[in-house]
Amino acid sequence: MSEKITLSVIKADVGGFVGHCAIHPDMMEVARKRLKEAQDRGVIIDFHVMRCGDDMELIMTHKKGADSEEIHKLAWNTFLAATEVAKELKMYGAGQDLLADAFSGNVKGMGPGVAEMEFVERKSEPVIVFMADKTSPGAWNLPLFKIFADPFNTAGLVIDPAMHDGFIFEVVDVYGHRKINLNTPEEMYDLLMFIGTMRQYMIRRIYTKKGEIAAAASTQKLSLIAGKYVGKDDPILIVRCQAGLPAVGEALEPFSFPHIVEGWMRGSHHGPLMPVPFEKANPTRFDGPPRVIAAGFQIANGRLIGPRDLFDDPAFDYARQKANEIGNYLRVHGPFEPHRLGLDDLEYTTMPQLMKRLESRFEPE
Ligand code: 13P
Ligand code: 13P
Ligand code: MG
Ligand code: MG
Repeated sequence: MSEKITLSVIKADVGGFVGHCAIHPDMMEVARKRLKEAQDRGVIIDFHVMRCGDDMELIMTHKKGADSEEIHKLAWNTFLAATEVAKELKMYGAGQDLLADAFSGNVKGMGPGVAEMEFVERKSEPVIVFMADKTSPGAWNLPLFKIFADPFNTAGLVIDPAMHDGFIFEVVDVYGHRKINLNTPEEMYDLLMFIGTMRQYMIRRIYTKKGEIAAAASTQKLSLIAGKYVGKDDPILIVRCQAGLPAVGEALEPFSFPHIVEGWMRGSHHGPLMPVPFEKANPTRFDGPPRVIAAGFQIANGRLIGPRDLFDDPAFDYARQKANEIGNYLRVHGPFEPHRLGLDDLEYTTMPQLMKRLESRFEPE
């Protein structure tokens, strides 16, 4: 047992109601029951089961550290229990994200998405858990850059002396299976060169220059695990706020701009990321457009006080309207790029099958 508490957010799509737009309440119920039992046994301190579209989000606090086998197994078994219900009700894609046959130590690489951080609880510990559907982990690059490195977004970078030093970005090359730490503001341009390519380079963690964890995101790519299209890796992100870290409003501000992300229909299209209140995270139009919700918590001795529904604010109406306008515009392109993803991304999905079938009919021109 460490002094630190761990905030673990583990998510999976284990069946959609209807199609890919939401989750049946009975699945949520069984997941809550499982985590309540674990809480009663003292395995976790507190939990919330939430959903964004068809993705089930297990938000848990405990003292077992990141990558704890016990916590990951609990999440895996909870997803299995929800899958059982999904199968009974013949939900769409029951067990979709559970790619492994059996649990083996850590859910990473087995399908579910994971974002975890350990920290000593401050006098006041505001955190935001962002959850998205119909997109992929690269979706966090632009907002994370703005939150932690753009003084036009985050006034604290200018006003708060505790933030003047800047931050350390851990960037993962998901195809190269390697990572690099880049410092801002010094290496801002180098950082942007990588993270502008959202499909390959993804921000996984952000630290203060003193080494304190400030943000953690899921970076699992399902297609790289399964070797084919199996649904999109709808991502999660944890951001700690205030007192030397970005204010809650600074962490939310980038989402007032509905930037273009990968995902939407069949995980194969570009579309705007629309910030919505919890109950509006039901992507139905062309299975989208992509959604993001923000759950705010004050953590008190490991207890998750919340969630506050942070995009439930008319100040985000404009972003929602803009997202609809951009969505309309992109939709008219139909199967053409840049609405449809480029072949680089589709080759990990359905392009190889098509190519195989037509290969023999190609001739020199
Ligand atoms: P208060 O003065 O309301 O605490 O606000 C400070 C702050 O951080 C606003 O973003
Ligand atoms: P999910 O990744 O949310 O399951 O969506 C898959 C899909 O094909 C949507 O059209
Ligand atoms: Mg789904
Ligand atoms: Mg989903």
